[in-house]
Amino acid sequence: VSAPLSDAFGRRIDYVRLSVTDRCDLRCRYCMSEAMSFLPRQAILSLEELAELAGAFVARGVKRIRLTGGEPLVRRGIDDLARAIGRHLGHGLDELTLTTNATRLADHAAALADAGVRRINVSLDSRDPDRFRHITRTGDVAEVLAGIAAGKAAGLAIKINMVALKGVNEDEIAPMLRWCGEQGFDLTLIETMPLGVVEEDRTDRYLPLDAVRRDLERDFTLIPDIHRTGGPARYAKVSQTGGRIGFITPLTHNFCDGCNRLRVTVEGRLTMCLGHDDHVDLKQALREGGRDALDAAIDTALRLKPERHHFRIAGRGAAPAVTRHMSVTGG
Ligand code: GTP
Ligand code: 5AD
Ligand code: SF4
Repeated sequence: VSAPLSDAFGRRIDYVRLSVTDRCDLRCRYCMSEAMSFLPRQAILSLEELAELAGAFVARGVKRIRLTGGEPLVRRGIDDLARAIGRHLGHGLDELTLTTNATRLADHAAALADAGVRRINVSLDSRDPDRFRHITRTGDVAEVLAGIAAGKAAGLAIKINMVALKGVNEDEIAPMLRWCGEQGFDLTLIETMPLGVVEEDRTDRYLPLDAVRRDLERDFTLIPDIHRTGGPARYAKVSQTGGRIGFITPLTHNFCDGCNRLRVTVEGRLTMCLGHDDHVDLKQALREGGRDALDAAIDTALRLKPERHHFRIAGRGAAPAVTRHMSVTGG
């Protein structure tokens, strides 16, 4: 039996984010450049290889797997992959989840629920059609809202992810919190992180969430909540809505000491930290060496996992902390 995973800082690793595509049907300005190039089909892991990797991680004690992208629902066969990974639920795996933009959720919600997915995170930075189109460059918010409704109808618990963007959606945070309350969704606010070059300067968009929280506290009573989802968010109960709000604060409050995760890109690169470019190639191990080589590569990666990211909003014109865009590792 292979040993469970822990890193050089004694952190237990039991959560893996598996990116199933680097592609996305949207082009969110803070995430992607207008001129992204995507991987050719031969470069990416097959569905069988992704399922095999998931199995190898479960065998090493991984309890949660989150499918990400790009946009995971643009990958053909995603429902089959979810079903294959879902077979580990109750046999080592506690939770299979995904993070999606929901444009195609209406077509997949029932199959995902059937595969054992119980909750999903949906990226939604604005409910206003024009603003949503502006942020995503190509998106139709009506599709997303229909996707969210379908997810809810299929019994999936939904958490909305909203990247707080200065001058773009800051006036919509309180209305979003109210709407989420009405819908029975949790809301998580996220600080923009400097990953990959995009057309706009993230310095101009950065909103520190400690200030956002103080603003919200003029209208809402936020009661700190011990609720944890295994991710970096810190939650509070919102008395006025009965719902929860989470804060993901890589810039204002570092949370790396509690890190429990690894990420795999769709090229099979195991990345040890969102804020570092280094990685270990699992694809070669998977294709040429089998399970032992895979286990050895995972162990190498764990020894290299850094203590923390060093994200900061470094001022106008500063280079991003890492060259890789968020869409390559799915956040
Ligand atoms: P749950 O807690 O399971 O609901 O999910 P999550 O918040 O970890 O995942 P999700 O895909 O919804 O990600 C929300 C935001 O958190 C994204 O912007 C991610 O980039 C960010 N995030 C997730 N994990 C990490 C991490 O380890 N470090 C940093 N800096 N950001 C992270
Ligand atoms: N900083 C913070 N969050 C980002 N996301 C994408 N790019 C960034 C960034 N640079 C968010 C998406 C999605 C989640 C996976 O990551 O909006 O909700
Ligand atoms: Fe696509 Fe998500 Fe990036 Fe937007 S944030 S472009 S939806 S991967």
